[in-house]
Amino acid sequence: MSLVVLTGAGISADSGVATFRGGGGLWEGHPVEAVATPEGWEADPALVWRFYQERRRGLCDVEPNAAHHALTELQQRQDVTIVTQNVDDLHQRAGSEVFAMHGELRRLKCEECDTVIRDEDSLSDEFLPCANCGHERMRPDVVWFGEVPYHLSAIEAALRKAEMLVVIGTSGAVYPAAGYLEWARAAGLATVVQALDEPDNLHPKDLWVPGRASEEVPRLVSNWLGE
Ligand code: OAD
Repeated sequence: MSLVVLTGAGISADSGVATFRGGGGLWEGHPVEAVATPEGWEADPALVWRFYQERRRGLCDVEPNAAHHALTELQQRQDVTIVTQNVDDLHQRAGSEVFAMHGELRRLKCEECDTVIRDEDSLSDEFLPCANCGHERMRPDVVWFGEVPYHLSAIEAALRKAEMLVVIGTSGAVYPAAGYLEWARAAGLATVVQALDEPDNLHPKDLWVPGRASEEVPRLVSNWLGE
């Protein structure tokens, strides 16, 4: 069976990574516009850099959970495209191939020369200059509001050939990812939705699987693998 799996913050919640919503438009105490827009970066790069450096340091203390591992096993045995909105690298550390459509905390990008580096070690609150062009500060290579997500054409191609879309741990609030479920239903794909709370875009046609991803995803994967 050909599957697309779309994941959001909920899949990493059981690893101890905080989700985004539920805090009244705040992300860890900051207005989202202040820390997740190009304008916020322009206005106060030091605050935004400190905010992401804290998230980048936090990645050193978390590990993939049973849901990430189950999806890796599924991907090894079936035709599975994993698309994640998450900027942590827990799918990758579990051994999955993923399209990280909102970028990755462990990548940094130079706005002057477009150089992108993978960096796990520069974790102080000092800006990191670009080693290629000398620009004074690299930015996190994460997609902010108003920017275009990565891999959109590859994701759409995978959806067009899939028989089922499985959506895990996302509130269905941020587009274009939130639109994939509606597109899949209209195209006749089977749709499965797993999360703790019903997402905004849940529909009676979807198979709704409430609960914690670390418990429910391994169960779903075992079923699909016929175990
Ligand atoms: P949200 O924080 O909006 O939603 C998290 C979802 O995970 C909710 O539906 C919860 O019910 C569910 N959840 C929480 N704990 C769970 C658990 N243990 N098991 C299963 N589900 C659980 O996060 P996202 O939908 O991922 O974008 O947010 C989408 C985007 O908004 C993010 O990628 C980010 C943010 O702005 C960018 O930074 C561009």
